[in-house]
Order: sequence, then structure tokens, then C-alpha cells
Amino acid sequence: MSDRVAGRVAIVTGAASGIGEASAIRLAEEGASVICADLNAEGAEQTAQAIVAKGGTAIGYTIDISDSAQCDVIVAKAVSTYGAIDILVNNAGVNLPGVFHEVTNATIERTLSVNVMGAMYLTRAALPHMLKNSRGSIVNMSSVNGLVSEPFLSVYSASKGAIVMFTRGIALDYAKTGIRCNAICPGWVDTPINHAHAKMLGGLDHVYKTIDSFQPIGRPGTPREIANLVLFLASDEASFMTGSIVSADGGMTAQ
Ligand SMILES: NC(=O)c1ccc[n+]([C@@H]2O[C@H](COP(=O)([O-])OP(=O)(O)OC[C@H]3O[C@@H](n4cnc5c(N)ncnc54)[C@H](O)[C@@H]3O)[C@@H](O)[C@H]2O)c1
Repeated sequence: MSDRVAGRVAIVTGAASGIGEASAIRLAEEGASVICADLNAEGAEQTAQAIVAKGGTAIGYTIDISDSAQCDVIVAKAVSTYGAIDILVNNAGVNLPGVFHEVTNATIERTLSVNVMGAMYLTRAALPHMLKNSRGSIVNMSSVNGLVSEPFLSVYSASKGAIVMFTRGIALDYAKTGIRCNAICPGWVDTPINHAHAKMLGGLDHVYKTIDSFQPIGRPGTPREIANLVLFLASDEASFMTGSIVSADGGMTAQ
């Protein structure tokens, strides 16, 4: 345990798995009290328990972030439990790949309601509390696909591009208030969200054997490598950064 975000209160969505789980753990290791939020109740609880077992402070919380009422309630819960909301990590997401002319309304609606509207609902709910304290850091999980697309990802890419511009908009509107908003664009990170896309590309083994064809570093990223960046942006170490779109992609967008 260290103290880079000591005394701060964080909500991390998608905390049951992958990047969100690693981010919740990383923030707690550096002193934050963390609400580990996810649609997957058991996974959210497991992440919180893992934090507590190591001496950190966390609770698991079940939420569907596509429901605005639930987003209001989780922010109220953070404030009533820990007294504030200082850090919001809008990380939960879905990736439902497809050939675009075959994509269903359900796929479009789910992708946009989770990946875009969920982040908007939570940000809107958190901002009044951050304004009251003149302090807040919002970290949005975009993707390299918010900057460049890949086969079968037109709907997902549209959602991640929206997050890039949402991040810039919030950064500008709140620049003078002590509230910062930045986005991270990860490349291919080894988590379950990619499994359906990998299947369409010939299977996960094939993707990993050929990964240097699109990710020059030649390997997938790890959730903790992205979580380290979440921690930095959430902390006061990034005090001059707002509206930044930061890639962590093993060189994918350097090509
Ligand atoms: N893994 C990658 O290669 C990669 C690359 C770029 C961006 N990202 C982004 O990183 C974020 C985290 O993804 P990950 O890779 O850790 O995937 P993951 O599948 O391991 O985790 C995603 C989590 O989000 C949760 N979730 C989904 N819908 C939800 C909802 N409506 N409400 C609450 N929780 C919900 C899931 O239950 C899951 O625990 C996503 O926004 C994803 O788009 C991932």
C-alpha cells in the first residue's frame, strides 16, 4: 500500500474483470476507497474482497450502467458511504462485433447505451459532488478504436470515438473547476471482451501468433499496464492534464 490517491473515493465500473478489476486494485493499493461496480455481482464482490484481504478499502456494487437511475444511486451510495466522489473511472464496456449490414438493433442499442450513455449518466451524476469539493478526476476508457477502426468493429469504434469527444467536451466545460477529464485508448489487452472479435478474426491463438502484424510490441497488453495509467491520470500527478487522449497500445497507432 502507498498513498498516491490516499483519502480519495473512487467508483470503477467494469470492476469484475480485466482492466476495471486491475484499476480498482491499483487505486486501492495507493490509498483510495473504491466502489467496485459491475453488472456481474459476484465478480464485483470478488474484486472488493481481494482488495479488503490486502488491507484496502472497497465494496462490491451491482449496477447496469445503461440505466440512468442506477447511475444516480451508485453516486449517492459513494457519498453516503465514503463522504465524496473524487475519482470516476468509466471503464465498463461491451464489444459486440459484426458485419455491419447484419448488425441488429439490439447490438447497436446495447453498445451505445453501455459504452457511451453509461459514461454520460455516471459523469452527470458525479459532477455536482465534484463541483462542491472543487476536485475530481474522470478517466474514460476509450480504445485505439476511438482513433482507428478494425474489421467488424464499426459500432464499437463509433462508441469509442464518441467517448474521445465526450472527454474533450467535459474537460473544456469544467476546466476551471478543479475537475479533470481524460481518456485512455488501449490497444489489444488480454481480457474476455475481445473473445468474440478474436473468433471472427480466426481465433485467439491465431490473433496472438500474428499480433505483431498490428501491435508492433508483439504481445497483448496486460490489464495492470492500463491500470497504471488509470492511477496516474486519477492522481494529482496528472494535475496539468485535462482533455488528453492517451494511447497505451504497444505502438498500434504509431504505424
Ligand atoms: N481488452 C482490450 O483489448 C481493450 C482495448 C481497448 C479498450 N478496452 C476497453 O476497456 C474497458 C474494459 O474492458 P476489459 O478489456 O477489461 O473487458 P472485460 O470484459 O474483462 O470487462 C468488462 C466489464 O464490464 C462489465 N460490464 C459490461 N456491461 C456492463 C454494464 N451495462 N454495467 C456494468 N458493467 C458492465 C462486464 O461485466 C465486465 O466485467 C472497456 O470499455 C473496453 O472497451 C479494452
